Amino acid sequence: MHKTFPIDAVRAAFPALALSDGGVARGYFDAPAGTQVAGRVVEAMGRAMIEACANDGGTFRTSQAASAIVVAAHRGAAALFNCDPDEIVFGLNTTSLFYQFAALLSRHWQPGDEIVLTRMDHDANVSPWLQAAADKGVTVRWLEWDPETFEFRYDMLDSLIGARTRLVAVGQASNFLGTINDVARVCAAARAVGAVSVVDAVQSAPHVAIDVRAIGCDILCASAYKYFGPHAATLFLARDLQAKLRPWKVRPSVETMPTRFAPGTPSFEAQAGTLAAIEHFAWIGSESGGAAADAPLRTRLLAGFDAVVAYETDLMRQFLGGLAALPGVTLHGIGNANRLASRVPTFTFSIAGHDAPAVAQALADRNIFCWAGYFYAWEPASVLGLREGPGAVRIGLSHYNSAAEVDGVLAALRDIVGG
Ligand SMILES: Cc1ncc(COP(=O)(O)O)c(C=O)c1O
Repeated sequence: MHKTFPIDAVRAAFPALALSDGGVARGYFDAPAGTQVAGRVVEAMGRAMIEACANDGGTFRTSQAASAIVVAAHRGAAALFNCDPDEIVFGLNTTSLFYQFAALLSRHWQPGDEIVLTRMDHDANVSPWLQAAADKGVTVRWLEWDPETFEFRYDMLDSLIGARTRLVAVGQASNFLGTINDVARVCAAARAVGAVSVVDAVQSAPHVAIDVRAIGCDILCASAYKYFGPHAATLFLARDLQAKLRPWKVRPSVETMPTRFAPGTPSFEAQAGTLAAIEHFAWIGSESGGAAADAPLRTRLLAGFDAVVAYETDLMRQFLGGLAALPGVTLHGIGNANRLASRVPTFTFSIAGHDAPAVAQALADRNIFCWAGYFYAWEPASVLGLREGPGAVRIGLSHYNSAAEVDGVLAALRDIVGG
């Protein structure tokens, strides 16, 4: 049975939320750029660095503890993505993992081949493929989005994807518009022609239960620092595709997973922290999502995401209602309260007569943290004419934000812009 979302317990799980400055609480609305870290993550990382500080693969106690972290973290990431642990690659961040795989995948590309990128994606899921394509004489084709609906022009897929398509790269949720995309549909179109499909799940991971089997992708990546964990990323690499790739690696390194695509010594502490971040969602699943405490991790995770989505939907409705009452606001994304299932709680907007950096500064002066600019979303910001110049304000909500905080940010915006 679902309970009311335990916002007080959730907030207590994040040590940074208790911080204040001169008696003024901090308001964290910068989640799309990076979330606060759950206390269990900090503890797990500290424990790893004290109790498991050795290279893995040895027979002595600390090494065995490091090996145990690697096994558990790969299982945890597999539960998050709904894949097998030997389909998980840990890396520094999503950008560097995509560059690594762009180098490997493009070894098979020929001049005249094609790849499909989108006008909605963060540049981490554009430039690595774009630059590899330029090196190989590969043609780049673009999936556009509709500025009225903020959704992809799925009707373009048939004409974009064909026999020469080698790769299709698409984001599951936009870090600029907030739109949740039908990535399963895009990946099915790629699969139908034998193209590799890549999904950037960096912005969806904190808000959407990911299922790589349902999506049908070959590669999917998310960064743990966007979902309450440390600076690290995990990439799903489908077993079929692994067999076709030949990684560059040092000669002593083994050919088995998880080492095969992860050169050098990994951050064991980041793996421990990533697992703890995943367990945070499972904890919510048992606390309020109705999952038994001893249910499998994936079951508890799914219950956790159900609870988070329901809670964040209420916050979105509250924020959108307040934003609509402000004078001169243009929201660059879905604003219709009936379409909240099609977006994550990331709101990018412009306010007539107010430069975005000045608004962000005025909020910072009130100890409310958010970003202004275009957030590396080069393509969508270009479509909207917002890449050059002051850009837009971005307020990101997270399941650790309270309704009172949302009221607070709305009141601050009213104070700044009038109305
Ligand atoms: C949608 C999206 N993709 C990729 C990235 C880049 O992630 P990383 O910093 O882990 O390379 C970001 C970062 O903001 C993002 O929002």
